Amino acid sequence: MMRYKFFIPMLAIILLMSAATTFAQRNTSDLAPKLPIEPYNYTDLTLPTHLHFTNDNIPPDNPITDAGATLGRVLFYDTRLSANDTIACASCHLQAVGFSDPAQQSVGFEGGVTRRNSMGLTNARFIQGDLFFWDTRAPSLEALVLEPIVDPIEMGSSLPALIAELEAEAFYPPLFEAAFGTPEVSADRIANAVAQFMRSLVSYQSKFDQGYEIGFINFTQLEVQGMDLFQGRRLGCNICHITDTQVLNEALNNGLDRVYSDNGLGEITGNPGDDGKFKPPSLRNVALTAPYMHDGRFATLEEVVEHYSSGVQAHPNRSPFVPIGGFRLNEQEKAALIAFLNTLTDEEFLRAVKFSDPFLQEASVGLKSAETTQSSPLPLILTAALVTLLTVIHLRRRS
Ligand code: HEC
Ligand code: HEC
Repeated sequence: MMRYKFFIPMLAIILLMSAATTFAQRNTSDLAPKLPIEPYNYTDLTLPTHLHFTNDNIPPDNPITDAGATLGRVLFYDTRLSANDTIACASCHLQAVGFSDPAQQSVGFEGGVTRRNSMGLTNARFIQGDLFFWDTRAPSLEALVLEPIVDPIEMGSSLPALIAELEAEAFYPPLFEAAFGTPEVSADRIANAVAQFMRSLVSYQSKFDQGYEIGFINFTQLEVQGMDLFQGRRLGCNICHITDTQVLNEALNNGLDRVYSDNGLGEITGNPGDDGKFKPPSLRNVALTAPYMHDGRFATLEEVVEHYSSGVQAHPNRSPFVPIGGFRLNEQEKAALIAFLNTLTDEEFLRAVKFSDPFLQEASVGLKSAETTQSSPLPLILTAALVTLLTVIHLRRRS
């Protein structure tokens, strides 16, 4: 009898621990993605009319297809893209916060931090002129994709090594074949697929979008006032954050400092007339993409609005559309602006399964596994629970 007294609880503990570690391991390098049998719909969106008229930046040679965006989604969430299989694009671009990062600086594959704040990716499809990154150095989304992969701080990979790694993975060649016709893995195809997925990140169901179609009768008085301020003559926030997707299509200076330690566009062109110029991401989902500005200096929208109200500095390249000293808003006007910015949040977008992590096994209800190499921890947990129960009964009987 003595033997069982120790053996059974030990067994229970071992089983529980192994179940817990199976759960805790979220290392995608062991996993295949769970994908639907029919790909999700990324192409046939019922966009509201006000977005139809907003030109997008889809190039003629890389249109979005459902299979292409599906491959792009898998790559976007795959830690294999980093040198040591620890960091995915999604590590610094989180869906729940508009594909931005709540950290002021993002952490790369070896623990180094990025120089600038990560950018939200909502509605990048509508940024015209193909100007990406805060300093607009990337000429297209296709060109941008390979940059973080080989960046020495962000992902530190090399393209030949990455291509070999993806080719060796049973589930990748079929995904490349579905997207591009043949199973060949190449840098161009990686870039094209991820760019397709990023262009599929369209937000069109915010309160603002719903209101647009019905004359904003769904808005509160405060939200209407905020929208009028945002778009009105006095502030003209929309002179810079333009179109109904609130993007900025060039790098500008909005007077954050008199002297910048990071000169943005000026560092790329070498022209002092470009110093301190930056392009922000779209203001879609901006309520969630804190911290704000290229260096993430503002933690809240209140601080952003205070900058425009009272903090604008006399930088020589400051745009004339932001007056030195700010717009001098009263408390009520500040609250209204923030109320309006909150209407740009799109809950459907932030929760959409088709944009979510395909490697997360628990989010896979009703989906087919392409090739699962990892078994579910559930049987282990159940067995452990049963053994524990038997032990308790056994010990109580004896006492
Ligand atoms: C370690 C964190 C990190 C990783 C990993 C990362 N990014 Fe970023 N991303 C950033 C930062 C920081 C910026 C701003 C960089 C700058 O402007 O210099 C950025 C900017 C962007 C932008 C520009 C958006 C705009 O409006 O101009 C896009 C698009 C983007 N990243 C996509 C990706 C993709 C795709 C991947 C994976 C291949 C990726 N990122 C991986 C941190 C990261
Ligand atoms: C002259 C053009 C211009 C005007 C006018 C303007 N902005 Fe901006 N805005 C910018 C630029 C440029 C940035 C990015 C600056 C940086 O990071 O260095 C920015 C950044 C922001 C951000 C932070 C975005 C992020 O994700 O970090 C918010 C929010 C914002 N602006 C809101 C407003 C509001 C509200 C108004 C009206 C009161 C306004 N802007 C007026 C050019 C402008």
